[in-house]
Amino acid sequence: MKYGFFDDASREYVITTPRTPLPWINYLGCESFFTLLSNTGGGYSFYRDARLRRLTRYRYNNCPLDQEGFRIYIKDGCNVWNPGWQPVQAELDRYCCRHGLGYTVIEGERDGIAARQEFMVPRGDNCLLIRFTVSNGGDETRPLSVFPYLEFCLWDAMDDSSNFQRNYSTGEVEVTASAIYHKTEYRERRDHYAVFWANRPVDGFDTSREAFIGTYSSPAHPEAVFGSGCTGSVAHGWQPIAAQQFDLVLQPGESRSILFGLGYIENPEEEKWESPGIINKSRAEALMAKYADDTAFDAALQDLRTYWEDLLSGFQVSSELESLDRMVNIWNQYQCMVTFNMSRSASYFESGIGRGMGFRDSCQDLLGFVHMIPERARERILDIAATQFPDGSAYHQYQPLTKKGNADIGSGFNDDPLWLIAGTDAYLRETGDWSILDEIVPFDNDPDLARSLMEHLRRSFNYTRTHLGPNGLPLIGRADWNDCLNLNCFSAHPGESFQVSGPSDGPVAESVFIAGMFVKYGRAWADICRHRELEDEAAEAEEAIAGMEAIVLDAGWDGAWFRRAYDAFGHVVGGKECEEGRIFLEPQGMCVMAGIGKESGQAEQALASVQEYLDTPFGIVLHQPAYTRYHLELGEISSYPPGYKENAGIFCHINPWIVCAEAELGHGDRAFEVYRKTAPAFIEDISEIHRTEPYVYSQMIAGKDAVSFGEAKNSWLTGTAAWSFLGVSQAILGVKPTLDGLQIDPCIPASVSGFTLSRRYRGARYEITVENPDGVQHGVKEMLVDGCPLAGNVIPVRDAGSTVQVRVIMG
Ligand code: BGC
Repeated sequence: MKYGFFDDASREYVITTPRTPLPWINYLGCESFFTLLSNTGGGYSFYRDARLRRLTRYRYNNCPLDQEGFRIYIKDGCNVWNPGWQPVQAELDRYCCRHGLGYTVIEGERDGIAARQEFMVPRGDNCLLIRFTVSNGGDETRPLSVFPYLEFCLWDAMDDSSNFQRNYSTGEVEVTASAIYHKTEYRERRDHYAVFWANRPVDGFDTSREAFIGTYSSPAHPEAVFGSGCTGSVAHGWQPIAAQQFDLVLQPGESRSILFGLGYIENPEEEKWESPGIINKSRAEALMAKYADDTAFDAALQDLRTYWEDLLSGFQVSSELESLDRMVNIWNQYQCMVTFNMSRSASYFESGIGRGMGFRDSCQDLLGFVHMIPERARERILDIAATQFPDGSAYHQYQPLTKKGNADIGSGFNDDPLWLIAGTDAYLRETGDWSILDEIVPFDNDPDLARSLMEHLRRSFNYTRTHLGPNGLPLIGRADWNDCLNLNCFSAHPGESFQVSGPSDGPVAESVFIAGMFVKYGRAWADICRHRELEDEAAEAEEAIAGMEAIVLDAGWDGAWFRRAYDAFGHVVGGKECEEGRIFLEPQGMCVMAGIGKESGQAEQALASVQEYLDTPFGIVLHQPAYTRYHLELGEISSYPPGYKENAGIFCHINPWIVCAEAELGHGDRAFEVYRKTAPAFIEDISEIHRTEPYVYSQMIAGKDAVSFGEAKNSWLTGTAAWSFLGVSQAILGVKPTLDGLQIDPCIPASVSGFTLSRRYRGARYEITVENPDGVQHGVKEMLVDGCPLAGNVIPVRDAGSTVQVRVIMG
């Protein structure tokens, strides 16, 4: 069942009922100011860091769901309703929400009154703009009152939701003609305030939640709206809000629009005050003046559309498969931008106060984003590298605002270092900008410990090379990619962290998965060394990699698949002797992607085992059999009920590894089959089962052991976005940036007769036509570049600005 449809021409998903299975959200903002916005107008805004600079409140786990947001109440006689249905939930005669790229439009209609809210975050400014348009479609004059409403957060979202003994006394606002300023803590340590404004005079306002809503009422029934209007309250402590009132009289056929804004303003220390106690509003006034009318709003929206059009034009495919095109051309790339911006910090499943930016997560996000804005990828790589320790290990997370490593979680996730090589390698392949390796970057954010990025990568590689266990496999530390496989941490008491309490750095537990990474990204490191003419270092690295490959095929091989790990007692994890967790997905994906066992047949066998034991109609599960009891020696993985999350859930992030692995072996049919099972547009029809947004990937779909098999959770912020884009663009469509040029190596279903693709690469445009006359799955028979035959399938780098015509004949 569907709750809307894709409008590809407008690059929108159109939701036709407010009662979606879960709130279906969008992200507005692509630089510093962000808003999460649901299809009914719920959500919140923040500046750069969802924990430290939260502008508006959001109560997770709330009941009813999704109450806080950017609400507009329309009072029409004794009828009160919202164009987005929430929170009053008065039935609408018509409802529609269009989530577009960086903007959302919500429309509602009731009793001949149509209302439209257009939301956007303009580029270059730190604000959310909302254009509200109301029209009288009837033939009578209609007097109406309109009330916008939002609730401020007292900046630090963690503190805001816990330190009430202080918070109830600190709230402060200032009110001018059409603007409400939220200035809590501005008098002391803050240099920023928020402003909510309207572009026309108000007929009333409130800034105290209690006055507007009522002590025992709710946003579904604000007393001011249902009663006699705004009260002019000025908040002192408690809960500061912004609410305004506009009394309008609409003639038949008449429309009116009001522009609202929510801005974040920073003032330098010496310019904080206009007069004692009165904040300096000049920057806010400039912002309000800039967005004072429809022309400014329309121009900003057009600018956003042009921006996205240009970004997406870097990779556009045209194939026989509509859902494939819409994933590749629009939604997967869009999600890659969002995951790049947010890492795993703020979504409807990530509270914004938890994890900040993940080291491994952000490195992987780069893989799907680097082709869009390489300059921002460059900056990100340097930020991430600065949170690495001098020995090559790394802080597992960091705060986006401070860019400092998070000491609570610390380091010891032993896959982290290698992901830095993965991200940097992707950047080099995309851009050829070797100068990044010479950038001087601190270790542990300490400028005294700064070294070149090249040295950071060297230490990444060497960290893994020198931290090996009894079988010669890499030590796992607190966890590897699977945060929940905690082989050294024996967490036996409620509330204890599964990862960081206890002796987390055992000398025994080893990861076959990291070994696969070492081979894959070690090769990338060796190539980088060779390009820098460090021949000896490259050869030395290759020797270590060959040694590791042999160990994987020995201690890491179980007979029909790759093992997962060895635990702290030296027991196999993910082997035939295990009663539960006999076969795991991650090492099959990573080892085959690394090419381990490709010649000798183990790779082929491992993927056949995946299909036999782990595949389901909704995607591939992480392991089988699921853990049915808590295994102290394995950790958090076995704390989830069977089928959920890391305990045999369909962890979408890993599915594209299998896409890449299948393509590595030339299996185009199977690669595509795996791809389509989790690709949102392909499963739009089962939205009532899947439940999360049909335009973006979710982290997890409940596995076959779960009661709710097929139900997704944790949408938007997942490495699935980047890896799926990599899988479809590089492994299936076969357009692969290499250090020396663009390689074309498609691996597609035999039934696909071909496709065309336009790709921007190092400033040149490649217009590629792939033909598959013999119905093969893999292999390039002939390639013509600007009409001339090419030896091999890597097109040497072309001049920026040029257009290259490429014809690829498979066979
Ligand atoms: C984390 C990833 C991790 C994955 C598997 C996600 O929630 O963000 O870093 O690799 O879970 O545990």
